Amino acid sequence: MIEAQALSKRFGDKLAVDGLSFTVKPGQVTGFLGPNGAGKSTTMRMIVGLDHPTAGVATVNGRPYRDHADPLRQAGALLEAKSIHKGRTARSHLLALAQTHGFPASRVDEVLAMVGLQEVAGRRAGGFSLGMGQRLGIAAALLGDPAVVILDEPVNGLDPDGVLWVRNMLKGLAAEGRTVLVSSHLMSEMAVTAEHLVIIGRGRLLADTTVDELIARVAVGSVLVRSPQATALRDALVAHRATVTSAEPGVLAVGGLGAERIGDLALAHGIPLYELTPRRASLEEAYMDLTREAVEYR
Ligand SMILES: Nc1ncnc2c1ncn2[C@@H]1O[C@H](COP(=O)(O)OP(=O)(O)O)[C@@H](O)[C@H]1O
Ligand SMILES: [Mg+2]
Repeated sequence: MIEAQALSKRFGDKLAVDGLSFTVKPGQVTGFLGPNGAGKSTTMRMIVGLDHPTAGVATVNGRPYRDHADPLRQAGALLEAKSIHKGRTARSHLLALAQTHGFPASRVDEVLAMVGLQEVAGRRAGGFSLGMGQRLGIAAALLGDPAVVILDEPVNGLDPDGVLWVRNMLKGLAAEGRTVLVSSHLMSEMAVTAEHLVIIGRGRLLADTTVDELIARVAVGSVLVRSPQATALRDALVAHRATVTSAEPGVLAVGGLGAERIGDLALAHGIPLYELTPRRASLEEAYMDLTREAVEYR
């Protein structure tokens, strides 16, 4: 469990995080979404005590992260994949971390196997590709078999195989009852990975919701209508205060009227319909809608 209460962080005159409160629950993947610069990394750094909040408190499993005697068992985090001593091998990097908690070397080999790095365990991390670096960072996050896993943009720079691997791993960790917080600036990725979403823009909370609720909440709802007499239909609909746009001949996108009403009006005017499809807003549209302002001001 992660709790943020009225968290704020100021860098000079820049308020990077502005009064954020949210709870990340165990047993599900929570997506932490927002445009670049929204304050995701700063918030994650405050959760694990790497940045000191200007105001507010973040707790991990009930207390500030730095107050835990066994932090790697409480929460594992991947924040900056490249923050590894370049001259160390993957294995010695993990071994050094393991020794701070008295974990056996066998645990290092376990996590190396979990992330698929056994074959390159003896190679220097400085020569790793971005994808290998991400895997090593994830291995470090999992080292303490932690109840809470925090990953900052873990799929950046991964190939499609790697993206799928991270996605399945996150779902697996959540299914084991862990608390999983993963950040991304891509709605499309979170839509297929997360059940719950915490969306921020310019340091502020924009939504704390499930994927389904988000669609329902911001759905603009339009109806796609195809007719061989589209022009006549358009006139009839506009007369009933519908908003009508057309991207191609014979096809109308109708807002402000439901499919039933459109069908009835077409019948009343003797206009044949070839298609009448209510459209829900896509998750991508919902996200754009929410974050538009936050992006505009950047
Ligand atoms: N150490 C820092 N010093 C000054 N400004 C910072 C620092 N870290 C982040 N910022 C600023 O805070 C804002 C939020 O950054 P960040 O948390 O990295 O956003 P995100 O991870 O959502 O892209 C940005 O405007 C960024 O430039
Ligand atoms: Mg970031």
